[in-house]
Amino acid sequence: MKSLNELQNIRNQYTCLCDDTVSYEKFLIPTQGSGMYVWCMGDDDPYIDLVMGYSSLNFGHNNREVVAAAKNALDKLIHIHSFNTEGKLLLSKLLIEELNTNESFGVYFDVSGSNVVSVAIRVARHYTKNRKVVSFIGGFHGATNVTSAGLTDDDILNKDQYLFNEFEKDVIRIEFPDRRIAGSSLSAIDKLTKLIREADIAAVIIEPVLGAGGFIFPEEDFLLQLRELTRANGVILISDEIQVGMGRLGYLYASKRYGIVPDIILLAKSLAGGIYPLSALICKSELYSVVPSKGSAFHTTFNNSPFGSRLAYDVLCLAKSKGWFENALVTGQYLLRELAFLDESEFISGLRGDGMALAFDIVKPASYTAMTERELPKLFVNTCLERKLIVCTSGKRGNTIKITPPINLTIPECQVIIGRLKECFVAFSDKALLV
Ligand SMILES: Cc1ncc(COP(=O)(O)O)c(C=O)c1O
Repeated sequence: MKSLNELQNIRNQYTCLCDDTVSYEKFLIPTQGSGMYVWCMGDDDPYIDLVMGYSSLNFGHNNREVVAAAKNALDKLIHIHSFNTEGKLLLSKLLIEELNTNESFGVYFDVSGSNVVSVAIRVARHYTKNRKVVSFIGGFHGATNVTSAGLTDDDILNKDQYLFNEFEKDVIRIEFPDRRIAGSSLSAIDKLTKLIREADIAAVIIEPVLGAGGFIFPEEDFLLQLRELTRANGVILISDEIQVGMGRLGYLYASKRYGIVPDIILLAKSLAGGIYPLSALICKSELYSVVPSKGSAFHTTFNNSPFGSRLAYDVLCLAKSKGWFENALVTGQYLLRELAFLDESEFISGLRGDGMALAFDIVKPASYTAMTERELPKLFVNTCLERKLIVCTSGKRGNTIKITPPINLTIPECQVIIGRLKECFVAFSDKALLV
């Protein structure tokens, strides 16, 4: 086994293009995980992970029952081309039943969130024969293909990386109706009504809660209004629940939290327990059926994974029988209440949350000049890391700290998180004031 130093030397010599650790000042090699904890090489005490694979580990690191389901699925059938398998059929049925609707729906599986985003746009354009797509400022729909990147906000993704992205010309971005801004729903609906009248809009794609945009929650009735408007005008409503679905808001479907059934729902991340990168497009059958399928229009080598779909089915059954989704509502509310002390600080504002999706912003008080608005969040992240708490920054201004622990925590585990955040926060304030 290599030492930490040897691994650091390898890192320095052979740069990996997907090294995302730049904002962490400490070089860490995670070696083992369990629940909300991660052990790193050379450290006896574990770190608390509040990022949890960016919501792809909603049931915790190496959840024993999820791992057992994976081992069981591995032992059966790993891969096959084209055939239906029991797991795939049962998973499709369950995902559709959970919509609780009489309308006919179908499911397409893929291997990343970005992929199902691009399939959703293809379906919406075929069905409506319209070209343009509305997305939201602060929205994130992926980075790995031009469609998903074109929909994503420019402040969250550097668009120079994509050079000639023709699709972006067909994207219209409008303000997300932040529930903290009175009347924001009304102005978003007005803007959309006007757009739908004037432009050839195929779809509106929305994250029910902005994820990478820093957990911005919509006004309570916005999604209902959006559902009515799109339905009345034949515009396809795509709900991107890749980050806040799978129980983060207390429900399998985030759209259920807001009382709507969209035309297309997208899931990924925790769908197969974070073990297999399965994604799903749950779509009204009549939309899907107009796309000419000859020539494998809906196919990618591993989208038919017997392993991934069996695992996802077992994970969903586990989540349902254990009440993991509902648990997120109880523990999330507890965390939000107990973290209220954060808002008393002049460096912190906007503590917010719903289910196990919580966040706050690191801000620079007007009279404070020792550090810039960009430096303070970085100081917070690294102060947390020194005290064995893993957080990262997000949001349009890069100053939001999201708290996304596993959704199946107990209250005593939440108390441990609160205690650790308190410690980190005191250390951060001391450092910020000392500079
Ligand atoms: C809301 C949302 N949509 C789409 C994606 C893209 O998913 P993937 O990274 O699996 O392509 C993400 C990833 O973070 C996301 O949060």
